[in-house]
Formats: sequence, C-alpha cells, structure tokens
Amino acid sequence: MAVSLTVLKEAGDETRVAATPETVKKMSGLGIKVTVEAGAGAAAGFDDTSYKQAGASVTKAINAVLEKSDVVFGVRAPAAARINAMKANAVLVASLNPYQNASGVKSYAKAKIQAMSMELMPRITRAQSMDILSSQSNLAGYKAVLDATAEYGRALPMMMTAAGTVPAARVFVMGAGVAGLQAIATAKRLGAIVSATDVRRAAAEQVESLGGTFVMVEADDDDSGETEGGYAKEMSADYQKRQQALVTEHIAKQDIVICTALIPGRPAPELVTRKMLEGMKPGSVLVDLAVEQGGNCKLSKAGKVAEHKGVKLVAHNNVPGRLAGNASELFSRNLYNFIDAFFDKEKKSLALDWEDEIIAGIGLTRDGAVVHPALQPKKPARKPAAKKTATKKTAKKPAKKGAKK
Ligand code: NAI
Repeated sequence: MAVSLTVLKEAGDETRVAATPETVKKMSGLGIKVTVEAGAGAAAGFDDTSYKQAGASVTKAINAVLEKSDVVFGVRAPAAARINAMKANAVLVASLNPYQNASGVKSYAKAKIQAMSMELMPRITRAQSMDILSSQSNLAGYKAVLDATAEYGRALPMMMTAAGTVPAARVFVMGAGVAGLQAIATAKRLGAIVSATDVRRAAAEQVESLGGTFVMVEADDDDSGETEGGYAKEMSADYQKRQQALVTEHIAKQDIVICTALIPGRPAPELVTRKMLEGMKPGSVLVDLAVEQGGNCKLSKAGKVAEHKGVKLVAHNNVPGRLAGNASELFSRNLYNFIDAFFDKEKKSLALDWEDEIIAGIGLTRDGAVVHPALQPKKPARKPAAKKTATKKTAKKPAKKGAKK
C-alpha cells in the first residue's frame, strides 16, 4: 500500500505550513498519498485548490486521516489531541522544540510514534538541504533589517541632495551566523555602513567578504570561539567583560543594532545590557532576533516593539513566519529532501535507518521510548573514589562525525 502522508494546519499564530503545492507534487511523484488539512496553507498564500491541483486530498476531518497516516508533517509540535489520534509507529516530522517541551516528548513516546525534530539536524554536508535552522534564519536575518528600517525614522543610504547630504546609517550586527550574515548583506544592499561581531573567529572573513567591518576582542589563548560542530561556545567571564567594554563604546555610535547571537541548548547570551542600551542615541533601533531564547537584550519584550529612553526595541516572535510564503517554501523543501533521502524508490516505502547519523540526530522517540541521547535522564554524580585507588584518566575528544560546510 502507498505511503500516506498528512500535512497539518498549524495552531495559534503560526503562519507557515510544512508542505507547499510544489512539494506535494514532488511527494505524489514518489508515489506518496498526500492529504492536507483544509486551510493549512492559507496564511502562507497557498489555497486548498492549489494543493488539490498538485495531487493532494484536502480534508477537514483530520483525526480520521491521522489514524491511518504513516507520516505527519507539521511546522511546530502538534496539539495533544492530534498526537493521540496518530497510529503507532507513524513518523512525525516537525520542529518539536524538545528541550523546552518535555511533556510533548513524553506524549510521543506514549503514542508510540517515531518523532523527528528537524531543528536537531546534524550540520553535515549531506544534511544541508534538510537544515530548517539555516533556511529559516536566513529569512529572519533579512526581515530583521526591514523591521529595523521600518521603525527607524531616517534613511539607510547616503544621499546627496540640493538640500544637503543625508548621512548613511550605521548598522551593527551581533552574531554573524546564518541570520547575521544575511542581515549584513541586506543592510549593505540598502546602503548602510555595516559592522559585525561574533565570538567565532572564522566569522571575520565572512563578514569582511560581505563588505562589513569585523569588531572583536582578542581571544583567550588562541581560542577559536567555536565547538567541533561549528557553533559558538560560551566564553570565559574575562572574555565577556572585554567584549562588553568594546561593544559599549561601539554601540553608542550605531543607529541600528541587530542581535542574532545564540548558543545551542542554552539561553541566548546577554550582549546588550541596560547601560549599553542607554548609551545608544535616541531614535536608534535594536532588533532582538534571539528573543524567543531569552533575548540578547533583557529589556526586549517578546512579541512587541517597545521603547526604552528613546531607543526602539523590536522583538517580534517567529520572524520567519513574517515572510510566511518564502519561509514555508524553504521549510517544505527541507522536509521533502528529508523524506526523499529516506524513501525506498523501488519498494515505494519509507526506510528509516536508526543507525544513520541523520535519524540518530533528530529522532526523539521510538517503540514507546525516548531514545535521543540528549534527552536521557541525567545519571546521579558518582561519589569521588577513595584517593588510594584513584587512577588518572585522560578525557578523549569525541570523534568528529561529519564534515562541516
Ligand atoms: P546560531 O544561530 O547558533 O548563532 C548565531 C550566531 O551567534 C553564531 O554565529 C554564533 O557564533 C554567534 N554568537 C553566539 N554567542 C555570541 C556572543 N556571545 N557574541 C557574539 N556572537 C555570538 O548559529 P548559526 O547561524 O546556526 O550558525 C553557526 C555556524 O554553523 C556558522 O559557522 C554557520 O556557517 C555554520 N553552519 C553550517 C552548516 C552546515 O555545515 N551544514 C549549516 C548552517 C550553518
């Protein structure tokens, strides 16, 4: 029997959808029977008719369909009623936010489904086309600059007019990862004078190649600032102190500050303190893209545009969702690429190999158990061994699993 796949309509104010007519057509081409919940794509600009034309069935009676679905696609974690309606062994593919949603993870195990959390995708070359963090961050970085310019009461490019010169705005991007680099490129295109900072030294070259100036303190003992996986490390207290001093001085001269700094699995680092914010010019704007992880500025108010002593603090939630059409297209392609990679084209069935680095990296639950290594209960600390019997151990570095981009 053909594999059946259901695309859910998102709850609340989520505007994105996990499959577009384009990916529905591709999945139908693989021999998958796709059902889309009525209205699923409406907020992203894809109507039910376009899904039907692409080969999907569209239904309002979603629970009846879920009972028979082999695969379920969502953007975010589905509501409990939907999880309970799914059949045992079905594969749920979405951004499940497992570290902040322990009860959700338990419910996937209880329902005996195979839950795949796409934001945990390992950063290996083979998985790049499935990486939702990259595809969504890129759009967020772009939109952050547009959100800043909309709140900023001045222009970004330098303009020479008969009435005098309009100076170029100064934009400072904090965190030069995927979102930050796109913010730099966007601000440059709009004519701003752009600078950026990051704890990862490798970011300097990327910032400069986009025409930005890199602002950074000297590292501790030749520290690259990144983990083996290519993510930022939490830096030493001394580094953070020196970084703060440099940033305080730099930030006072900026018109727009875009904050994008994140450390996976930890709250966002505080980069702009109250004192720094109060040192900014009245009329300047700070956009905090890290607000959903606690914010790079503690004065940001999630989901709001606030003001503090004349400085605007822009902290929208779900920034990729503010470009729902493009965000859905890219998210849907990430999910399609994942399914395509694990689809046996001859048998026309899904072949999830739990030994595979991708499945092991994103798989949360299987056969009624929580299997992801990062979600296992912490072992109680062992009592220190008696001095006499203690032997010296050297910690081995974990083997590198795959090549980073
Ligand atoms: P992210 O979203 O986790 O963090 C954003 C940025 O904030 C990062 O550049 C990080 O270094 C920086 N940051 C963290 N703490 C900071 C602090 N205290 N001060 C200043 N900056 C701070 O990172 P993202 O955007 O996911 O990218 C991380 C790395 O992974 C980049 O090198 C990126 O090029 C790489 N990457 C690799 C991929 C692959 O190989 N498949 C795919 C996507 C990204």
